[in-house]
Order: sequence, then C-alpha cells, then structure tokens
Amino acid sequence: MKDTKEMTNNSQTIKNLEAAFAGEAMANRKYLYFAKLARELGHEDVAALFEDIAQQETGHAFAHLQLLFPKDGMTVEKLLELARDGELYETNHMYPEFEQTARQEGAESAVAEFKEQATESAVHATIFQKAAQRFKALGKVEALHAAEYADALKRVQQGMSLKTAS
Ligand SMILES: [Fe+2]
Ligand SMILES: [Fe+2]
Repeated sequence: MKDTKEMTNNSQTIKNLEAAFAGEAMANRKYLYFAKLARELGHEDVAALFEDIAQQETGHAFAHLQLLFPKDGMTVEKLLELARDGELYETNHMYPEFEQTARQEGAESAVAEFKEQATESAVHATIFQKAAQRFKALGKVEALHAAEYADALKRVQQGMSLKTAS
C-alpha cells in the first residue's frame, strides 16, 4: 500500500506507531511473564494460552517496526547506531531521572533496580558501539581488498591483451 504523503519524523502517525509498537511489545513480554506465573501456579493450559497470544503480539509489534524502520535504505551500521543510541538514552537520561524520582519517593528497591539497569544499558551501548566500529573497519578493509582485486584484475587483463597482441 502506498502512502499518500511521506511520514515525517515527528508526524502524529509516527508517534502513534511508536506508542502502538510499545504497547504490543509490552504485551508480548507481559504475557510471557504471566505464562511463567501461571505455570508456577500449576496451570499449564493457561500458561500455553499466554505463550500463544504472546507470539501473536510479536507479529503485531514487528508490523509496526517495519513502518518505523523500513528495510529500504537500512544498513547494518545504521542498525547498530540506532541500538547504541537507545541504550545511551536509557543510561544517560531515562534511568538517572527515574532513579532520582524513586529516591525522592523513598522507593529504595526501585532506586537499586534503576541503577543496576542503567549500568547494564551502558554495557549494551558499548557492545553496540564496538560492533559498529568493527563493522566500519571491516567495510574499509573490504573496500581496500576490492580495490586491490580490481587492480590485479586490470593488470592481468592488460597482460593478457599484451600477450594476444604479440
Ligand atoms: Fe496485539
Ligand atoms: Fe539494554
């Protein structure tokens, strides 16, 4: 289906897609958690029901993601950078703010959890950053190899044409 207009980054539809994605993604993890609890409570049939619907929520979430991050024009480098930026946002903005509020409200267990997860997000950001750098370096090496190959091929072809000329 073709859009009648190009969606801009801050259009209401983009915001709605992000909200819808968040809701479906949350439903997926929540139902998996409910399945775990239902199983621990001894209700395997209810656990299986939650797992089945959770699977469908993943499909719904992916459908929204396909519009938010279309494959056209996407590169692996861009994917790694988007992931890194998300983790950096959690590390530097989201968790510190949440931690401060939790402290003000005396919610000590939440303070501890936000702190711990900010650290884990920082680790994830570093992993994505390193992968992006490796990927960039690999791209340069590949470009170099491709240039060397093209050069060698040219030399061989020139040599061959010299031979056929003689
Ligand atoms: Fe859904
Ligand atoms: Fe993370």
